[in-house]
Amino acid sequence: MNKAQLIAWLGRLNDVYADKKDYLTGLDAAIGDADHGINMNRGFGKVMEKLPTVEDKDIGTILKTVGMTLMSSVGGASGPLYGTFWMKGGMLLGGKEELTPEDFQKFIQAGVEGILQRGRPVLGDKTMYDLWAPVLETINAEVGNGSDIVAIVDAALPVGEKALAATIPLQARKGRASYLGERSIGHQDPGATSSYYMLETLKEVLG
Ligand SMILES: Nc1ncnc2c1ncn2[C@@H]1O[C@H](COP(=O)(O)OP(=O)(O)O)[C@@H](O)[C@H]1O
Ligand SMILES: [Mg+2]
Repeated sequence: MNKAQLIAWLGRLNDVYADKKDYLTGLDAAIGDADHGINMNRGFGKVMEKLPTVEDKDIGTILKTVGMTLMSSVGGASGPLYGTFWMKGGMLLGGKEELTPEDFQKFIQAGVEGILQRGRPVLGDKTMYDLWAPVLETINAEVGNGSDIVAIVDAALPVGEKALAATIPLQARKGRASYLGERSIGHQDPGATSSYYMLETLKEVLG
């Protein structure tokens, strides 16, 4: 993945968070406080404002800037979680102008570890981690098989789609949705949904 593709990915993600603002907020209205779409839309709007100042820098700097911007502009649980996700990747990829499949795998792995450190989610808690855990496993397996980034994302997308649907029957055990207890069952997790868009838009950008 080169820098132009990374920039295109962030731009596409911004478009999707704008398009899906009401949908994500609706998901969060069912089991949270109806702000997830607003949070993601605001955060990526700020990322788009910041991006021109770092576009010429290395990929690590761009990713760190995305993370710091989300950290400071997205409220709630998801701001620190996504902020950490992008920042951890950036910390590993200083000086890079292009990402190999191994670099991409390191980025996602560090990001998921960041989510784990921040939120302490366990598999089945009905959070974004329920999407990232199987997706990361798929990425690891694909990199092990020598796949390129297009093939990695092609393999990860259906795994993410399945994992996203699998959040519906779960009872939330982390975040605001956990306050609902059994009433959180039957609704798709908003954070897993916004994470799924990361994969979907990356596939679009890689073609
Ligand atoms: N402890 C946690 N670990 C991982 N993800 C979490 C945690 N708490 C919440 N989330 C994720 O954050 C999403 C909610 O984000 P958002 O609505 O923006 O924040 P808030 O819940 O503070 O209003 C949830 O759908 C879930 O995926
Ligand atoms: Mg919320």
